[in-house]
Amino acid sequence: MLNLGVLASGRGSNFQSIIDEIEAGRINASIKLLIVDKADAYAVERAKKHSIGYLYFNPKQFPSKDDFFIKIADELKTRDVELVVLAGFMRIVRKPLIDAFPNRIMNIHPALLPSFPGLHGQKQAADYGVRISGCTVHFVDEGMDNGPVIIQAAVPVSPDDTEETLSARILKLEHRIYPEAIRLYSEGRLRVEGRIVKISGYELKDEYIVNPPLG
Ligand code: GRF
Repeated sequence: MLNLGVLASGRGSNFQSIIDEIEAGRINASIKLLIVDKADAYAVERAKKHSIGYLYFNPKQFPSKDDFFIKIADELKTRDVELVVLAGFMRIVRKPLIDAFPNRIMNIHPALLPSFPGLHGQKQAADYGVRISGCTVHFVDEGMDNGPVIIQAAVPVSPDDTEETLSARILKLEHRIYPEAIRLYSEGRLRVEGRIVKISGYELKDEYIVNPPLG
């Protein structure tokens, strides 16, 4: 069984999708700890409801950003966490945590990386006028939204989309691919070679999405 630690800052709907897949028996994992950096993060309510232990750390109460991440790494290690899952954690993870969990931290980003990294990936995509966007699960390195890609999912974008409508369309897929990436990890099917993530037991389907569709 894979021991997970989750870091979140807000509503925690991705956290919930992972809880649900574990409880449904589709991922052989156990969430050992939720850590939030915001006192009012709704993710905490979800943890309580599912009897998952949680901690709140105020980053301002640490002498430095590195100290904040050293504390997080300590708490995760104490609970034998093997994979760290960033679920709407609104901070750039620093070296002490990355070094403690090399290629063992995942993040989800609401755009097709390397397009539209950083904040508001959905708004960036809508404002740019792309026809296809989506979401990306990747391993975390020291760059922002930069590490090796594990899964991506694409959605069409309408010229009439707003940040809200596009976010809602993308979020549905986030809730599918984040648990899937964790499942693949838990089954030992991911191998990182440089920037490339090899996935065992999977065959590419030659499919495409065209938006607007071919006439
Ligand atoms: C998601 O859109 C995720 O892609 C981004 O932050 C948002 C978190 O949403 N990293 P939630 O807290 O999981 O509902």
